[in-house]
Amino acid sequence: FMNKNLIFHQLFEKESSTYTYLLADSVTREAVLIDPVIETVERDFKLLNELGLNLKFILDTHVHADHITGSGELRKLTGAKTGLSSSYEADCTDLQLKEGDTVQFGKHTIEVLTTPGHTAGCLSYKLNNMLFTGDALLIRGCGRTDFQGGSSENLFQSVREKLFSCEDDTIIYPAHDYKGFTYSTIGHEKRLNPRLNEKISKDQFVQIMKDLKLDLPKKIHEAVPANMHCGLASEDSHIPIISAKMVFEDLQDYKVIDVRRMDEFNNELGHIS
Ligand code: FE2
Repeated sequence: FMNKNLIFHQLFEKESSTYTYLLADSVTREAVLIDPVIETVERDFKLLNELGLNLKFILDTHVHADHITGSGELRKLTGAKTGLSSSYEADCTDLQLKEGDTVQFGKHTIEVLTTPGHTAGCLSYKLNNMLFTGDALLIRGCGRTDFQGGSSENLFQSVREKLFSCEDDTIIYPAHDYKGFTYSTIGHEKRLNPRLNEKISKDQFVQIMKDLKLDLPKKIHEAVPANMHCGLASEDSHIPIISAKMVFEDLQDYKVIDVRRMDEFNNELGHIS
């Protein structure tokens, strides 16, 4: 059996429909969490203790826009090291991960794959025949590509050239599912993914993504800045997080310097002149 002595739990956070994955070596008791959510830190911490596990690493697949990561809180509770793509230049992470890096727990080794497109810094994590794809590849879907340096062209390349080059029986564990599915396989997504199956061309995919016209995630203005600091922005940096709404409601109290990229500056939310 490929994953001998592996403890594996797929955990769910229902508000953001996020999957958190617990991986551990049943002999050495060393554990890794992938994509923990701040709301479920207590649950995850309790489970680690109940199973007698020693959390070594907390890995985020990307800087999430729809929820705040539990990585900073869990690091405080356990002393585990946090990992995120080096491309975000986040100031809080212990491991700045890039293509080809490995993360070791017990006798198990996770391989780091860069899979940009949903965001510029999206990573996938591979442990033998298990592939944790974040939002790059979802079950019969994929993450949106319209903010955080997202790019439909890059996502197409990441999925079709990199992820689809894994064996067909590789099991896909995504960061989210909104319909109750828990896993898929590379073979099934190659055939059945309505956006990225092997019959879809790059141009078709770019058009599909352009036509989505999605609302921004509810928590984006809080979650993204917080997640650049492992979910602990206000506490660690002493700089409070102010939502766009607060600025609009109380403009005279603030001087605003807008340092967003051009595409964000010109987006549908508008900007302060
Ligand atoms: Fe995401």
